[in-house]
Amino acid sequence: QSRRLTAIDIASRKGGQPIVSLTSYHAHTAAIIDPFVDFILVGDSLGMVMHGLESTIPVTVEMMVLQGRAVMRGSQHALVVVDLPFGSYEESPAAAFRTASRVLKETGCGAVKLEGGRRMAETIRFLTERGVPVMGHVGLTPQSIHTMGGFKVQGKSEASAAAVLADAIAVDEAGAFAMVVEGVIETLGREITEKVSCPTIGIGASSACDGQILVLEDMLGLSPRVPKFVKRYGTLAGMIEEAVSSYAGEVRSRAFPGEANVYKPKA
Ligand code: KIV
Ligand code: NA
Repeated sequence: QSRRLTAIDIASRKGGQPIVSLTSYHAHTAAIIDPFVDFILVGDSLGMVMHGLESTIPVTVEMMVLQGRAVMRGSQHALVVVDLPFGSYEESPAAAFRTASRVLKETGCGAVKLEGGRRMAETIRFLTERGVPVMGHVGLTPQSIHTMGGFKVQGKSEASAAAVLADAIAVDEAGAFAMVVEGVIETLGREITEKVSCPTIGIGASSACDGQILVLEDMLGLSPRVPKFVKRYGTLAGMIEEAVSSYAGEVRSRAFPGEANVYKPKA
């Protein structure tokens, strides 16, 4: 059994071969994607994908811990990064450390991710100095939906681009081992990647980023609506419909269960 990748391994990939990552919240999908990715993110997007919520705001630490454990059980090669949910870390570095240490202890994951730029720099440094590898997340930060006024692409104006760049630099200088750059204009994704020393992981950012991430269900074609930045590599919703429709037909016609699917008495 090969050693699991660590935050240090990911950090060392700056400017090298692109870092591949996907989300998973689930043991069996984690096992399927594990050989192909460098890290798996247990994202708080699970609020939308698994629970049908409209934003990530209601996601709890308990939800993240349960799914984080599932993904750790399902995988053995990739670094597993678990999102800190809204309300569990913003208040103070000490609050963030309490949540992060709980997540590390209870899931066995190798790093946490938190949203925010300059305002979270002190917290990122506090955690990193105390043994918690932190992945940053700048640009479109979904936990700030209420103050951003919706899921909006960031960096369209010069002032907005300068603000996101300052956020990225602050996160980098605070010691993040990598950062997600989400929902920014392409030139800004490229500029951030050039200006920070840690790897950037793009989602709706730029092919120049040091790596890419997508929500697994979105790229598999399982999610009903997806943003422009998602490329669909599969058509799982259609495959599930076909399978379930065959099953329903066979149950109704008594073709299922067949001879192969029932238990016989001893001969
Ligand atoms: O929660 C999530 O899935 C994320 C990624 C989209 C970066 O934060
Ligand atoms: Na997230």
